[in-house]
Formats: sequence, structure tokens, C-alpha cells
Amino acid sequence: MENAVVCKNIKKWFGIGSARVEALRGVDLSVKQGELLLLMGPSGSGKTTLLSIIAGILTQDEGECLVSGINLNAMPDIEKTRYRGKHIGFVFQSFNLIPTLTCKENVSVPLLLNNIDRQTALQKAEDLLKLVNIPEKADAYPKQLSGGQQQRVVIARAMIHNPDLIICDEPTSFLDADTGAKVMELLRSIAKEHGKTLVVVSHDPRIIPFADRIERLEDGKITR
Ligand SMILES: Nc1ncnc2c1ncn2[C@@H]1O[C@H](COP(=O)(O)OP(=O)(O)O)[C@@H](O)[C@H]1O
Ligand SMILES: [Mg+2]
Repeated sequence: MENAVVCKNIKKWFGIGSARVEALRGVDLSVKQGELLLLMGPSGSGKTTLLSIIAGILTQDEGECLVSGINLNAMPDIEKTRYRGKHIGFVFQSFNLIPTLTCKENVSVPLLLNNIDRQTALQKAEDLLKLVNIPEKADAYPKQLSGGQQQRVVIARAMIHNPDLIICDEPTSFLDADTGAKVMELLRSIAKEHGKTLVVVSHDPRIIPFADRIERLEDGKITR
């Protein structure tokens, strides 16, 4: 099976001199197409930094990262942003929903950024809200929803532009056990049904049953 993500000897540091923090110290990692990889590790171990590099949001100081065989780092920023907007979906810890937009409008944002016309985007957003089982919330505002419902909206938004890769940073950390499990079940079933690759970062052991494979990051290195 083809690799969706390949990281080779990734190193990343922040700051200089005595303030220098080595966030990643030679990370090798690959994720197969269609796989749900869970990346675990304590707080500060470099999980978010690694996800940001995979997504092309941060640039590594050494090493190489390929997403679907493409080296994002070699692209000019504008192309990188365009690639990310077409091929990668994001689910973050804090829901990052825009409070002044309805759920339907929030979900449609990735399509609007890809210059899809508003009517088509809003229609597609309604379809996605059906897929995540909250079609009745289309015209509600985020603050009118529970945490679990908001995370469903985020998942719908992450899927709407049909990305190949979905990146999730601590997707259940603000949710209670029951809601967290339901959100993971939903993420997994949608990903499997549509052949998506999922990289989920978490220190939450409740996610373990949903993973195809688990890698552990400790102090900037994968431990085996
Ligand atoms: N922008 C930054 N500036 C300085 N240090 C950072 C920055 N981002 C992360 N770090 C440091 O890098 C290390 C890894 O952080 P992070 O990737 O956020 O870990 P995790 O997501 O596993 O909690 C930590 O020591 C953190 O303080
Ligand atoms: Mg983090």
C-alpha cells in the first residue's frame, strides 16, 4: 500500500542559544493510505509540532516530509497554502469555529476558500451536517451547541473539501468520555468509508481502541 505521509529524520528547534528547545530530534514516521494512526505522547513531547510540519504550517530545520509523495516544504508559501486547502482537513483541540457564522456557514468555509460558489458550498455543508448526524443544527450558531456537537461541526468542516488526509490534534480533549468515544467512532467510520488517511494526536488512552496503529513520541523522538 502507498504511503500517505513519510517523515524522515525530522528535526525542529525553537529559540536560540540557551533558550533553544529541541522539539523534534530526528523523527521517522510513515502513515499508509487509509490508515488511522494514533500518535501518543506526554504534553510537550512534540506532537503538535510534528503535525504542523506534516501540514506544512511549520517548516522543519532538518529532514524531509512527504505528503502523498509531495514535498510541501519545497513549495512557495502560496502554493503550500493552496495544497493544504485542497488536500488536508483539520480537527483541532479548540473547535476554532467562527462564532458569528452559522454551523452551515462554518462548514462551508473550506469550499469558499477554494472559490466554490456560495450556494453550492452551503448545499454541500448541509449534506456534511447530515453525515455527522446534526442536520437540524445547520442554521444554529456554534455557541448554541454542546461540545460534542461543535466537534461534529468541525469534523464536517474538515471533510467538506474531500481531503485525502485528515489531521486531528487532541480531538477529544475537551469532551467527556462518552462524547469523546462517539466523536472518535464517527471520525473512524467516515474515514474508513471514504478511504481517508487519519493522523490523530492525543494523550487520551480512550482513543486507543479506534487506532489501526499507535506510535509514541517522547521528548521529540519516536520510541519503540
Ligand atoms: N512556537 C514555539 N516556540 C517555542 N517553543 C515551542 C513552540 N512550539 C512548541 N514549543 C516547544 O516545543 C516542545 C514541543 O511542543 P509541542 O509540539 O506543542 O508538544 P505537544 O503537542 O506534544 O504537547 C515543547 O517544549 C514546547 O514548549
Ligand atoms: Mg499539542
